[in-house]
Amino acid sequence: MSNHHQCQLPKHIAIIMDGNGRWAASRFMPRIAGHQAGLQAAKNIVKYCAEKKIAVLTLFAFSSENWSRPIKEVSFLMELFLSTLEAETKRFHEKEIRIKFIGDRTRLDPRITRKMQEAENLTQHNKGMVLMIAIDYGGQWDMQQALQKIMEKTLGGEYKPHELTVAHIENALSFPDLPHPDLLIRTSGEKRISNFMLWQLAYAELYFTDTLWPDFNEAALDAAIADYMKRERRFGNAS
Ligand code: IPE
Ligand code: IPE
Ligand code: MG
Repeated sequence: MSNHHQCQLPKHIAIIMDGNGRWAASRFMPRIAGHQAGLQAAKNIVKYCAEKKIAVLTLFAFSSENWSRPIKEVSFLMELFLSTLEAETKRFHEKEIRIKFIGDRTRLDPRITRKMQEAENLTQHNKGMVLMIAIDYGGQWDMQQALQKIMEKTLGGEYKPHELTVAHIENALSFPDLPHPDLLIRTSGEKRISNFMLWQLAYAELYFTDTLWPDFNEAALDAAIADYMKRERRFGNAS
């Protein structure tokens, strides 16, 4: 019933941007052309979400497992991240966007991690949308690094293992200061999480669309948000 609809914009939208390769293949183009087109779609969605006053937008750009792709594709993606960081950081800053990266930085080229740090520093006090980019990110990696911090603290005597709370775990994970995703969108028809946020998706509303990522535009995002707003979120409670 309509009064059950939450009718509220999602505070945090997370997107698994999938289907670049298939988009290119359907045009007899190389996979990298799909990534180029996917980047354009991502820039449009960032702009649109910022205009819509979405509080947090997370884009899954590269997973822990994506290193297993052909070296040429991985290198192309890395160069694309670098050139995009160089070209867009200032523009995002002007839009009051706060940029944040999540993922394992140890395996990335230092040229990239330096630019990531610079972008985070430059935009850290911005009051607009938080743009979180997941790069070399995996939900299992997030739990691993959280457990490492927790074990250091228990060994250091900060608390005993039996005193460990959900809040301790939350605080050790990648973005304790931001809300969990309300809406998870995955494009390209795949219906899986692919090791994206495992802990933080606990109560996300899931939205799957067959649209390939390079074709995902403002209208497609509006459709996802409209679907989300019709849903009743119960969080385990009774209706
Ligand atoms: C998503 O598109 C982009 C990344 C994972 C970097 P894909 O490259 O996975 O495209 P498909 O799934 O092969 O079509
Ligand atoms: C998930 O897409 C990762 C990103 C979108 C960055 P994949 O294309 O890598 O996922 P699988 O391999 O189909 O599960
Ligand atoms: Mg894919």
